Amino acid sequence: MAGVPFDQLSGQIWMNGEFVEWDDAKVHVLTHGLHYGSAVFEGQRAYGGVVFEQTAHHERLHKSAEILDMTMPYSVEELNTACEEVIKRNGFVDAYVRPIAWRGSEMMGVSAQANRINVAIAAWEWPSYFAPEERMKGIRMDIAKYRRPDPRTAPSHAKAAGLYMICTLSKHAAEAKGYADALMYDWEGYVAEATGANVFFIEDGVIHTPTADRFLDGITRQTVIKLAKARGIEVVERRILPHEMAQFSECFITGTAAEVTPVSEIGPFSFTPGQISQNLIADYDVAIRPKAAQAAA
Ligand SMILES: Cc1ncc(COP(=O)(O)O)c(C=O)c1O
Repeated sequence: MAGVPFDQLSGQIWMNGEFVEWDDAKVHVLTHGLHYGSAVFEGQRAYGGVVFEQTAHHERLHKSAEILDMTMPYSVEELNTACEEVIKRNGFVDAYVRPIAWRGSEMMGVSAQANRINVAIAAWEWPSYFAPEERMKGIRMDIAKYRRPDPRTAPSHAKAAGLYMICTLSKHAAEAKGYADALMYDWEGYVAEATGANVFFIEDGVIHTPTADRFLDGITRQTVIKLAKARGIEVVERRILPHEMAQFSECFITGTAAEVTPVSEIGPFSFTPGQISQNLIADYDVAIRPKAAQAAA
């Protein structure tokens, strides 16, 4: 449920190279990003004051901007430094970090050739979702009405604000029915991903996950694939048809926000969160801890 609105929190936000007070981090109502969805963003988590895979997130932000024909005015290194400073200035330990780049107000029409590319980085305190026992119960997911768009009809590989319109609609519809989230198919009807996380299934000790060539190839997804392989678990990336979900025993979703979260139901299909999910949750928990903390442990 909604707590304090995000525009009423306090702290400092980095905006176009400067720190401003939370209250002053404003944009005008005539902003291209608001009207035309011309914005790209990242979702990162800091653990123990250090952002996990920070450079990978900023490289993806650059890639998303490039796909949307936006020239990022700050390098990956400058974004790394700015994020570190945001966390430090606000005194955060475990936090969510949200960099965003958007087209400004210089032109208000479909064409926005002269619009400034603005960049802001905000962060707020956000501990991990659940206690491990709670997490192992698994979440219930609906099947979304909307499908992930064909890469020929939308910039599917960008983490672009506009692409989240169908995610919000799908998540709202799921929540209205008592589910935690929704699984989206791709335009051809194969299993794609959740509204803000990638999906994995397990059958006879082998992990199956949809090939990420038509939706976001999550940084958590890539980390978990490496962790699974390091355990000697076979990972098969392929097209998965919905009816195949009947034969999978375990399912989990991965994402910066969701981390590794087991799934107990997707529509008519049931799964029993088990050992592989549990092991990967534990491995991920170690992987995200800052290296200094790992060395001291
Ligand atoms: C649509 C979508 N898919 C997948 C992911 C997982 O990506 P990551 O693991 O990089 O957070 C996210 C979260 O950013 C997302 O919004």
